[in-house]
Amino acid sequence: MSPLNSPLRTYLLLALAMAPLLTYLRRRSRRSFKLPRKDERVLILGASSGIGRTLAHQYAELGVKGVCVVGRRADKIAEVVAECKACTGSGTEIVGIAGDFAEVEDMVKIRTQLVLQWGGLDTMIVAAGVSALRPLMEVAGATSGNVGPEGIQHVVNVAGLATRGNYVGPLVAAVTFIPVLQDTSRHPSILLVNSLASAIPAPTRTLYASTKAASLHLYQALAIEHPAIAFTHFLPSTVEGDFRASAVDGGTAREADPNKTGLKRVAVARRCLSAIERGEKNVFMPWAMGPAHLLYWVWPSLLEWRASAKYQFQAPR
Ligand SMILES: NC(=O)c1ccc[n+]([C@@H]2O[C@H](COP(=O)([O-])OP(=O)(O)OC[C@H]3O[C@@H](n4cnc5c(N)ncnc54)[C@H](OP(=O)(O)O)[C@@H]3O)[C@@H](O)[C@H]2O)c1
Repeated sequence: MSPLNSPLRTYLLLALAMAPLLTYLRRRSRRSFKLPRKDERVLILGASSGIGRTLAHQYAELGVKGVCVVGRRADKIAEVVAECKACTGSGTEIVGIAGDFAEVEDMVKIRTQLVLQWGGLDTMIVAAGVSALRPLMEVAGATSGNVGPEGIQHVVNVAGLATRGNYVGPLVAAVTFIPVLQDTSRHPSILLVNSLASAIPAPTRTLYASTKAASLHLYQALAIEHPAIAFTHFLPSTVEGDFRASAVDGGTAREADPNKTGLKRVAVARRCLSAIERGEKNVFMPWAMGPAHLLYWVWPSLLEWRASAKYQFQAPR
């Protein structure tokens, strides 16, 4: 029998006939099929620089209905508004508001404005955060011997700043905007830009990782309490940019230059968008960090060694 008359040929023809159907079904499962971009209203907290700023550009390019960019530095927010206006070809409405996501009054003001202007919200990106880069005992001012009360108090003060930027902010954002998302959107989504440091412990990142982990667990639990909202928790490794300049403990980076070795902001923002589009819940970037995080539970010393090497850390003897 010729191969063209064989059952193989029948299967091939069937597969070819199914391809358009499968493509259609895949498209149908995408969020932008159910909520067209031209109707999507997006709020980005922490958009004056870095990942949030790049996400703002990408949403403007996609031609969503509106993008609201928020950060504390009013001059930077004005720049982002101008950049977004320049890169949207579809008349996306760009709103810039200077505000602090850990300040209740600021978040309520933004909510009031968005409800008045757009009638609600579909997508909230929480990208804001602050870094902390020093070993805890160094923050306390003593790498050997007892720590005095001033040193302990200093650690409490620095931890307060890290908590404000990495936990209280996401908390205030969640309480302020979850009801609006639920009540005004057909397909509400929240994306939390968190960190790989929340899943794999690293030296010099005690305050950063523990406060980021607090907001990760907050949002993971909120995802169960609010199943109508699609939550995405995004855990990237080091990303290019100036994030380390915001260190609340005054520390400096010890690892290789993030601008040479870090993930590219554009790629990170694209992966955030595709994760929201597909409704992915937990996303590691690079993806191999997902299995690496599981490895920690079976072979912790391997990951501890790797993390110490990355951050050029040697425990005092
Ligand atoms: N860069 C990395 O290597 C890396 C790796 C993993 C995870 N992440 C996470 O990625 C997120 C974005 O970091 P990035 O690299 O884009 O750093 P970035 O350039 O420093 O951006 C941080 C943004 O957060 C805003 N922000 C900080 N505190 C705020 C507050 N209280 N209220 C409102 N906005 C606030 C900053 O704006 P203003 O200063 O104008 O307020 C800025 O727009 C952070 O949550 C970080 O934890 C970063």
